[in-house]
Amino acid sequence: MKTCCIFFLYLATILQYCFSVSSSSPLLLPLSHSLSTSKHSHSPLHLLKSSSSRSSERFRRHHHKRQQHQLPLPLSSGSDYLLSLSVGSSSPVSLYLDTGSDLVWFPCRPLTCILCESKPPPSLSSLSSSATTVPCSSPSCSAAHSSLPSSDLCAISNCPLDLIEIGGCNNSSYPCPPFYYAYGDGSLVARLFSDSLSLPPSVSVANFTFGCAHTTLAEPIGVAGFGRGRLSLPAQLASFAPHLGDSFSYCLVSHSFDSERVRRPSPLILGRSLDEEKEKRVDDGDKEKVEFVYTELLDNPKHPYFYSVSLQGISVGKRNIRAPAMLRRVDRNGGGGVVVDSGTTFTMLPAKFYNSVVEEFDSRVGRVHERADLIEPSSGMSPCYYLNQTVRVPALVLHFAGNGSSVALPRRNYFYEFMDGGDGKEEKRKVGCLMLMNGGDESELRGGTGAILGNFQQQGFEVVYDLLNRRVGFAKRKCASYWDTLNQG
Ligand SMILES: *[C@@H]1O[C@H](CO)[C@@H](O)[C@H](O)[C@H]1NC(C)=O
Ligand SMILES: *[C@@H]1O[C@H](CO)[C@@H](O)[C@H](O)[C@H]1NC(C)=O
Ligand SMILES: *[C@@H]1O[C@H](CO)[C@@H](O)[C@H](O)[C@H]1NC(C)=O
Ligand SMILES: *[C@@H]1O[C@H](CO)[C@@H](O)[C@H](O)[C@H]1NC(C)=O
Ligand SMILES: *[C@@H]1O[C@H](CO)[C@@H](O)[C@H](O)[C@H]1NC(C)=O
Repeated sequence: MKTCCIFFLYLATILQYCFSVSSSSPLLLPLSHSLSTSKHSHSPLHLLKSSSSRSSERFRRHHHKRQQHQLPLPLSSGSDYLLSLSVGSSSPVSLYLDTGSDLVWFPCRPLTCILCESKPPPSLSSLSSSATTVPCSSPSCSAAHSSLPSSDLCAISNCPLDLIEIGGCNNSSYPCPPFYYAYGDGSLVARLFSDSLSLPPSVSVANFTFGCAHTTLAEPIGVAGFGRGRLSLPAQLASFAPHLGDSFSYCLVSHSFDSERVRRPSPLILGRSLDEEKEKRVDDGDKEKVEFVYTELLDNPKHPYFYSVSLQGISVGKRNIRAPAMLRRVDRNGGGGVVVDSGTTFTMLPAKFYNSVVEEFDSRVGRVHERADLIEPSSGMSPCYYLNQTVRVPALVLHFAGNGSSVALPRRNYFYEFMDGGDGKEEKRKVGCLMLMNGGDESELRGGTGAILGNFQQQGFEVVYDLLNRRVGFAKRKCASYWDTLNQG
């Protein structure tokens, strides 16, 4: 028994050694869908309703002008992706992967979680003894406080003026003050700490900055921020190992809320190499021809952590509907653009544009199929149709800025079919809904993002965030078999 343990220790050491030798290789991590851990099986209607209201609350939060200190965060578990990591010597925590925000934070023991009864159980961690506070004068502290100047933060921490003047508030006597984040229907108070971060199997970052929350309102699950800010996980990884932080990709397994498919891990690849040579090898193993379609990342002066891109239009069948100016660019005040977001379920479009897309869609599908008016309010999605025969759905293509940067969505990414009823009262009927959402009037969206590309629409694509070359790419892919291929080595 003992020999066996020693052998495994030895093996672990060798593996660790091997990893540090081949340190230019990417790091593969599994993302799990939050539905896969849910104990209840919900009806499609229930899932649609909770995901759609969550998506729109998060989208509206992007536009909360008076509360600019807030970050957009997932509101509840429903259809998002979880990443497991550990900080210090604590047990791993599962956090929402969120490309729409930049801080990594999690609930810490002891936790007071107000109004969390109906939520999933918290994934708690204790602070290790190795965790240290971050000084008020640190740029990370400013970043967590929405760029509030260090001098203000150090004054709050009671650092004497003479020390503020010479930048001397740089030790644990003057820690970064707690910060407050609020969103849709939840909020939290957290403090910044620094400790080692471990990502399985063997990557560790010595000096990783994160938030630890002892009090949250309606939010038991933390967030792994993958946005463009200095506190985000890729940004912090980049200063430790540039090749791992310069690009990342994920490939979300197509699930359509199917409990079997939702259990398959979705690959997250840190340090995704976009080198042609390697690309080919992966593709051969995969027996898939994979070509990325790229579009340029736009800078956003107001929301620097967003991955904003320019959308030129959407085709429905043969008709190309031009996107409003607001979606084609980001203005000087940080308004407009389309945010590529892993933390929102459904794509949200400004009302007028959304209505044009729906009108064109309905003129084809609605001619043949009865509108399911009753389903629409209870699912939050529209239009929905009763499908009494095989349904023909027009193709939907997103035209991003760039030469040939068009992405044809697989049908299941925008048209969801399910059985409704059959609970005894009424007969079961097959229903299909268009999976795009109305984000509200353009006038209300001014100053915030124009639209969000949600994770439901990203299923079955490898989405690469190429930070070095400032672009986002999409490649159609079978993500479940991609995971198997990558895992074989
Ligand atoms: C803190 O700041 C003072 C004054 O600028 C400097 O002398 C000292 O080395 C700094 N200490 C640390 C730990 O950075
Ligand atoms: C922090 O720095 C101040 C001023 O330099 C010093 O008086 C104090 O002892 C330091 N505290 C710690 C815990 O190092
Ligand atoms: C740790 O990181 C923080 C913020 O990123 C930085 O201010 C600090 O100097 C770093 N400390 C060490 C020991 O590297
Ligand atoms: C399907 O429903 C439409 C609209 O109610 C109707 O016109 C059509 O005849 C039905 N088709 C079949 C095959 O039942
Ligand atoms: C777009 O790409 C095609 C093929 O790569 C090329 O022939 C064409 O010149 C490009 N057009 C522009 C405007 O860059």
